[in-house]
Amino acid sequence: NYASASFVTSAPDITKLPPDTGIEIAFAGRSNAGKSSALNTLTRQKALARTSKTPGRTQLINVFELDSGERLIDLPGYGFAKVPMAVKEKWQKALAEYLQKRDSLKGIVVLMDIRHPFRETDQELIYWAADCGIPVLALLTKADKLKQGPRKSTVLQARQASIAFNGDVQVEAFSSLKRIGVEQLENKLNEWFGS
Ligand code: GTP
Ligand code: MG
Repeated sequence: NYASASFVTSAPDITKLPPDTGIEIAFAGRSNAGKSSALNTLTRQKALARTSKTPGRTQLINVFELDSGERLIDLPGYGFAKVPMAVKEKWQKALAEYLQKRDSLKGIVVLMDIRHPFRETDQELIYWAADCGIPVLALLTKADKLKQGPRKSTVLQARQASIAFNGDVQVEAFSSLKRIGVEQLENKLNEWFGS
């Protein structure tokens, strides 16, 4: 019941997350990819996660809990040009550690703008996840920005490209604006949450 999601806490870093028990799913992606919007779409809440036109809005790790006790995690966006290199590197290290060490992490949703999928950091993240045996749902967001034809061919191309990661990677088009791919997202989460 994704509509039951409620805000639990904002963690400044991965060591400050709630105890590593139960199941959690993380939403990751470049700044401005549409992570917070996707969480709001999934949970049918307008302002559960804060969205913004300014990239880099979500600087903290926001933790949401479902009535079942399972967690959804909104990770800060990466790849924001104005963030100093040292901060970027620190965050990448923390992210890698989170993927490697967090036992309750059962899946990661990687959101990428459909107009620029699989940029360098996206690829790194998916390789790490594949290495750690964590399944990935790659959502090509803002799919409403492309017409039906180019949208389909981009998804097919991305599926082809995703084979290179050598992991469990599913690729779908997604739009919060037009509610595209919401069912696919729900189905994947249901699978990971085990219901
Ligand atoms: P950070 O928290 O900064 O990392 O960004 P984010 O990934 O959480 O992105 P957010 O959900 O805040 O959305 C960024 C911008 O993209 C906002 O202006 C949204 O309105 C817009 N946006 C999000 N989803 C969609 C979509 O499905 N279609 C379109 N056209 N715009 C979208
Ligand atoms: Mg956000």
